Amino acid sequence: MKIQVADLHFKLLIDSDKIAKRVKEIAEQISNDYCGRTPIVVGVLNGSFLFTADLLREIDIPVEVAFTKLASYFGGTSSTRKIRDDFDIAVDIKGRDIILIEDIVDTGNTLHYLVDKLSVREPASIVACSLLLKPKALERTVDELKYVGFEIRNEFVVGYGLDYKEQGRNLKGIYKKV
Ligand code: IMP
Repeated sequence: MKIQVADLHFKLLIDSDKIAKRVKEIAEQISNDYCGRTPIVVGVLNGSFLFTADLLREIDIPVEVAFTKLASYFGGTSSTRKIRDDFDIAVDIKGRDIILIEDIVDTGNTLHYLVDKLSVREPASIVACSLLLKPKALERTVDELKYVGFEIRNEFVVGYGLDYKEQGRNLKGIYKKV
């Protein structure tokens, strides 16, 4: 079934059941990996708000939550490679275990920027978790990317937090541009 978001058409790529199943698996992995510790889960807004919320509900160890906001697509369907830093996390991360939650890693520039920015604050560790990864679009490797929900082809997607022209974030599944 085709859907329309703003002026573009999309079709289903990953349905909500598949997302929920994968979210549970990643949460289980994180809960095991961080057993006995209290990491700070940092949601990177806007795109990761649903993923962060769903993941948190499935994690069964103590965690703290913080948010930061960055933007890099600005209404188009490809990366501008310019990063706008809208707001910073409001907690001291020195000596803490940080898990960054991203919606999608495309060129890798946003994640690289964020890891560089936070590393100077001397966290004990910093890893990233992204719902989606476009391996063929990567322009730089991000060693910190430890948890990935789904690898997808180099195509533009919306839904489950991801937008086109700020629309489509409320879709339950992930849809690709046709
Ligand atoms: P990167 O810096 O190129 O890795 O891009 C990361 C950001 O670009 C993501 O957090 C998204 O906000 C946005 N982005 C990348 N690919 C897509 C897509 O297919 N749909 C919607 N937003 C995307």
